[in-house]
Amino acid sequence: MSAVAETTRTQDLKARTHATHDQLDQRIMANQPFASRDNYARFLDAQYRFLRDADALYDNPELAKLFPDLAERRRYVSIAADMGDLGRALPQLAEAPISSQLDVATAMGWLYVVEGSKLGAAILYKLANKLGLDEKFGARHLAGHPDGRARHWRAFTSALDGLMLDEESEARVTAGAVSAFACMNAHLDQVYA
Ligand code: HEM
Repeated sequence: MSAVAETTRTQDLKARTHATHDQLDQRIMANQPFASRDNYARFLDAQYRFLRDADALYDNPELAKLFPDLAERRRYVSIAADMGDLGRALPQLAEAPISSQLDVATAMGWLYVVEGSKLGAAILYKLANKLGLDEKFGARHLAGHPDGRARHWRAFTSALDGLMLDEESEARVTAGAVSAFACMNAHLDQVYA
């Protein structure tokens, strides 16, 4: 009998979105979001739009059954406060958040991306500190969880990885992750046009 190396759902999602993530990361950094508070405010605008798109995930009753600490994970309030700190008006977004219209499997893929982005936020938070921004002013949405980022992430991935899904749902999770990244890219198109 030979040992088969099994990967987790999260590891598969990471592998499938790795190239997209790298492009996104490079694109953001190429626009020098930490060169000045004005540059940061443009990046913040894209983050605001993305987290607002994602916000309905955090009060989705089906997801709440699967991820018990779901509501505490939301960052909408912090990003809205960051926008205020930087003197940015919240964009008038009439349409309902995209995430309010997703089936639960697609929503899981979205949630993977939004929760995963808290890991990269560790780097961004340190860079924001150099602009005098922190968890009390301007960079609240980038601050780590009191339990520590790694632990907060592991709690999420162990719940996600523990779910039994059929093939079709599995494909929807992946498609959800891909579309969440595409959505952030579309916001970057807008702020960096
Ligand atoms: C310049 C901006 C960014 C940088 C420098 C960055 C950097 C990183 C780094 C270093 C990690 C891995 C951390 C670790 O394994 O401990 C990570 C993970 C991740 N980031 Fe980013 N990131 C950025 C922006 C974003 C954005 C905007 C999104 C989503 C829209 C995102 C989604 C993710 C996801 C989903 C993961 C988790 C990957 C996994 O382990 O499964 N990142 N990021």
